Amino acid sequence: MSRSARPDAPSSKSVAGSILGLTRWVDRAYGAFTVVRDEVALAACTGDVRSATTTAIYSRADKYGGRSEYPDAGFFEFEDRVVRRFFPRPPARVLVPACGAGREVLELLRRGYQIAGAYDPVPQFVDDCAARVRPSGAEFPLWVGTHQGFSRGSFPSVGPVDAVLVGWGSYTHLLGGPARVSFLRALRGLGPRAPVALSFFAPFEEVAGSPRSRLRAHLRAGLRRLRVGPPSEPGDAFRPGAGFVHYFDRERMVAEAAAAGYSVAHYEDHHAAYPHAVLIPG
Ligand SMILES: C[S@@+](CC[C@H](N)C(=O)[O-])C[C@H]1O[C@@H](n2cnc3c(N)ncnc32)[C@H](O)[C@@H]1O
Repeated sequence: MSRSARPDAPSSKSVAGSILGLTRWVDRAYGAFTVVRDEVALAACTGDVRSATTTAIYSRADKYGGRSEYPDAGFFEFEDRVVRRFFPRPPARVLVPACGAGREVLELLRRGYQIAGAYDPVPQFVDDCAARVRPSGAEFPLWVGTHQGFSRGSFPSVGPVDAVLVGWGSYTHLLGGPARVSFLRALRGLGPRAPVALSFFAPFEEVAGSPRSRLRAHLRAGLRRLRVGPPSEPGDAFRPGAGFVHYFDRERMVAEAAAAGYSVAHYEDHHAAYPHAVLIPG
């Protein structure tokens, strides 16, 4: 039987098809490169260097501070929902870790909340936050600090805390289960009844058993002897625009919250505009 090609049938010799098909090698090479970069960066940096690197990357991000209008933009929709549903009513006292130049702080003040305290590791953001808050006359402890430092107890006296709004995406920069549990315990110590709203990166895009995840496992094992930093966990990574990050999954969030005395009252990952969770003491 003779085969006659229909004029509109796709040609198996399509040049475009061949070229586009070949680009999968570019994708694979880039995927492998990001895995190597993650693992070398994680192995070569101590916890303090990771945190300083992330801070240095943010300090160059004009969007969050300086003359940007972004800090005056108010809540994202998910923050509005979470605050309305889970936070006590104004004038409750809210702690704002990772406040940047004050976007959440300014919106909370507009809604009649008091700020128990706020911090961010980028000194310029903290100065910008102070300048933006000044016209409101609100006074509260505002300091340069990290979640890691907060977990170690290095923060000024903040008084009672009724709710905690951890700054947008910043929970993702707290690497290591034990460090996150210490952070949550420190929050619980200040606000034994306070709901804690967190936002983060999720989910980790790597499929278990895929070539990328096998490469990662090999590298992690190979770099063990050279490692100066704390051990990495599944989901730890480095992103050039955001620094060291952890991609969460729900099971991990629930387990770490429980270890710190919280239950997860709300969790939305990649279906949400921005992955976030709310923890409730007890
Ligand atoms: C996406 S920005 C959000 C800033 C601000 N909350 C907002 O929404 O405009 C993330 C913030 O996390 C801060 N950050 C980075 N690493 C941190 C760490 N280890 N501890 C606390 N904050 C951190 C950055 O300086 C930055 O201000």
